[in-house]
Amino acid sequence: MKDRFWLKLAAKLTFVILTVGLIAGCFRGEPKEEPPIHLNPNMFKQPKYKAQSESEFFPDGATMRQPVPGTVAADSLRKDNAYYSGRDENDSLLAKMPVPVTMQLLKRGRERFNIYCAPCHGQTGDGQGIMVQRGYLPPPSYHQDRLRNMADGYIFDVITNGVRNMPSYRHQVPVADRWAIVSYLRALQRSQNASINDIPPELRESVK
Ligand code: HEC
Repeated sequence: MKDRFWLKLAAKLTFVILTVGLIAGCFRGEPKEEPPIHLNPNMFKQPKYKAQSESEFFPDGATMRQPVPGTVAADSLRKDNAYYSGRDENDSLLAKMPVPVTMQLLKRGRERFNIYCAPCHGQTGDGQGIMVQRGYLPPPSYHQDRLRNMADGYIFDVITNGVRNMPSYRHQVPVADRWAIVSYLRALQRSQNASINDIPPELRESVK
């Protein structure tokens, strides 16, 4: 008999608690100024300065400090000016690219060229890319003496800064890839301006 009494009481209590919990769950918490109560605060609260916050320590009252003069952000040291600008110490465009041309570089250049340049300039550099076929202003063909005789640094500069109607590709194409594209563009020009005498005699038959 006594057992049943406690059992009933426990059942009633459970019911009440569940109901109250259920109803309470329907109400949204009000925004509060107070931080939530942490029963186990761990290291939630630490004295520290946050960005843009006020400081009583520094005379100018700001927490944030200017970097020490001469500070260079990681990976931002541009010591080799020719490599990063395509120009020599007199600010003239480099006649020859400052990195050795390897098969690997050419392949990278071909890949990047076909992504970033071919849409306008065409895969052979004739200036008839898909954009032009759909109405974009046609760029000049690379296969003319004026552009064949341009300095390597000029092509680098065109990619970096754009030229007249061509936009800059400095954000899409990092410096190393620009040189790779320059090497490939030179190869393209060579390929479209070759005679049968450029081919070793034993291979001439195969291309006729
Ligand atoms: C959105 C189309 C477009 C893309 C993409 C493009 N170009 Fe051009 N490019 C042009 C146009 C248009 C011109 C002609 C600019 C003018 O003379 O007004 C041009 C001109 C050039 C010239 C000749 C500049 C001169 O002196 O006549 C070079 C070299 C060149 N682009 C290289 C590149 C390279 C390398 C890429 C890839 C990184 C590239 N372009 C991507 C549109 C493009």
